[in-house]
Amino acid sequence: MSQLIDGTKISTQVLEEVASEVELLKAEFDIVPTLAVVLVGEDPASHVYVRNKVKRATEVGMGSIEHRLEAETTQDALNDLIDVLNNDPEVHGILVQLPLPSHLNEDEVIASIHPAKDVDGFHPLNVGALASGRESLVPCTPQGCMIMLRQVHPDLSGKKAVVVGRSNIVGKPMAALLLQANCTVTIAHSRTKDIESVCRNADIVVAAVGRPKFINADWIKPGATVIDVGINAIDIDGKRKLVGDVDFESVADIAGAITPVPGGVGPMTIACLLLNTTRAARHQLA
Ligand code: GUN
Repeated sequence: MSQLIDGTKISTQVLEEVASEVELLKAEFDIVPTLAVVLVGEDPASHVYVRNKVKRATEVGMGSIEHRLEAETTQDALNDLIDVLNNDPEVHGILVQLPLPSHLNEDEVIASIHPAKDVDGFHPLNVGALASGRESLVPCTPQGCMIMLRQVHPDLSGKKAVVVGRSNIVGKPMAALLLQANCTVTIAHSRTKDIESVCRNADIVVAAVGRPKFINADWIKPGATVIDVGINAIDIDGKRKLVGDVDFESVADIAGAITPVPGGVGPMTIACLLLNTTRAARHQLA
């Protein structure tokens, strides 16, 4: 049985550091780091995510502002709200929960957020900064994956890493961070030929495809580290259950270390969002 990488425990440590930084910013500069979350429409999963983000923000002593807009909200109305938040000195981080209803242009919305308040790290300026190895606000999920990986591999230099999935939110920024850490990086995706053997060659596999139990033990080199970004709700014996992109039961027998679902990447993502909010607040002091 492999080592379990406990995202709940590691995220608690990150949240404690965030809470200390919040206290420091309050005491030294009289500012309350504040996150504004914008939620458009009725997507149930998005409502759960946003509730958790706001709850955790409150727990670490941060301010949070929730804007819930109806599904029919126009692009202009959303742009106007972001404009107000961009110009509000008491708002340090802005997060627009994705996906947006299909009549709204996500790229336009992301680009309208002030890059210094873009705690998701999705603005083109922050994406470019990450791609060229400059300091930036880094997307939360890949950042959380890196913190977990470093628990197992304090030095990632020279490791062969395969990222399965090429989304803008996870796969691409994950690959950029691994490259920055001197890994030899491969991005595998739906058109990759012989994807199993590509993965089986890796010291580190990061699974971010959004397909339940897609990766099984045959894909994994004995002793490899496996990070499972997937959160898929499926029916098992008539019950709704969350499973990852990795078939945990089979892979846990062969991997050296593995993240569970739930209790792995999920809590790290929220912790990193709040970490980004304190970083954004500190940068805005200058
Ligand atoms: N939807 C799913 N993941 C994310 C995320 O990291 N940020 C935002 N804004 N929306 C998401």
